[in-house]
Amino acid sequence: MGLLKDCINNKKTKSVPVWFMRQAGRYLPEFKDIRTKNPNFIDLCLNPEVSKDITLQPLKRFSIDAAIIFSDILMIPYALGQEVNFEKNFGPKLGYLNFDQIYNISDKDILRKLDPIYELIKNTSKDNILKGKDLIGFVGATWTLLVYMLNKQSPKNLKEDIFKFKNQDKLIEKIIHTQKLHVKKQIENGASIIQIFDSWAGLLSSDKYEKYIYQPTKELVNYTKSLGVEVICFPRSIKSYVEYCDVIKPNAISIDYEIDPLEIARNIDIPVQGGMDPKCLLLDRNEMLKKASKYLEIFKNHNYIFNLGHGVMPETKPENVKALVDFVKEFK
Ligand code: CP3
Repeated sequence: MGLLKDCINNKKTKSVPVWFMRQAGRYLPEFKDIRTKNPNFIDLCLNPEVSKDITLQPLKRFSIDAAIIFSDILMIPYALGQEVNFEKNFGPKLGYLNFDQIYNISDKDILRKLDPIYELIKNTSKDNILKGKDLIGFVGATWTLLVYMLNKQSPKNLKEDIFKFKNQDKLIEKIIHTQKLHVKKQIENGASIIQIFDSWAGLLSSDKYEKYIYQPTKELVNYTKSLGVEVICFPRSIKSYVEYCDVIKPNAISIDYEIDPLEIARNIDIPVQGGMDPKCLLLDRNEMLKKASKYLEIFKNHNYIFNLGHGVMPETKPENVKALVDFVKEFK
């Protein structure tokens, strides 16, 4: 296994490990080429050969320490039978939620629908380019999946009717059950680390954390740890990362770009990942590297994984990503 795993396990590493959320796609011309030829995004995620190529694209360009599988958090609603479409310049659109159908779908049917993802992971984990590096599997957090399934698109703000959905508790249970199935299969097929994306954690008020974030995430983190694999959690824009880490006890915490990194370095002692604003990659090279130094210096005496505070933006120039990775790799 790679530097990333060593860092998460509190070992010293010869250089700062680096990878990027959303490194596989969007800003890479070789991804855009494939995307033009494959107009249906879900079909692309279910094509193990092509999704393996996309997963490895960033590793062919940059000296990064991990691959993240090319997939999407919305493959879970898809596997549960909810329609999921990705529209250009709009993002995901989900279909009608037939609760009875979702509740009654068997594990076998869920796993059959997701099987190409496991094939992708199996084939990718054996590729030589990943020797000594990690392969990150992932899952959307329960809350973020619930938001998409009920809101049916990326939320701009929180509509209160989400909390009024009458079969809410049973739906939450079914999501957790499916997340566990999906995580287990990813691990069995070669994912060496799991990241949990709670992209919409910042929408909730703290009085709702216990039910929607803490309980389900704790369950999933404990389950993943019980399978012998480390978990990185990314509760984007959560009000207190300190409290979140105390409650959830992930192996590493991925921070967003709004939180003060100094405050994190002072108050959190588990390995930290990320933080820099993805917009910094749109600056000129020296400005970008200055921003990167800030994070590297602040976390100099901490087990730290270089990454961003959210995904790489589609406008990012690959040359900037390369300059950034080389800079991180040389940092002492
Ligand atoms: O990190 C990686 O490069 C691996 C692949 C990956 C994708 N989605 C591919 C993708 C990962 C880890 C995700 C996670 C994901 N998907 C999240 C959590 C992370 C985050 O960004 O907050 C969320 C909220 C989604 C849901 C989703 N999928 C949205 C909102 C969109 C549309 C906007 C966008 O990001 O482009 C997608 C589509 C999507 N997922 C694309 C890619 C490469 C773009 C598809 C296209 O070309 O149209």
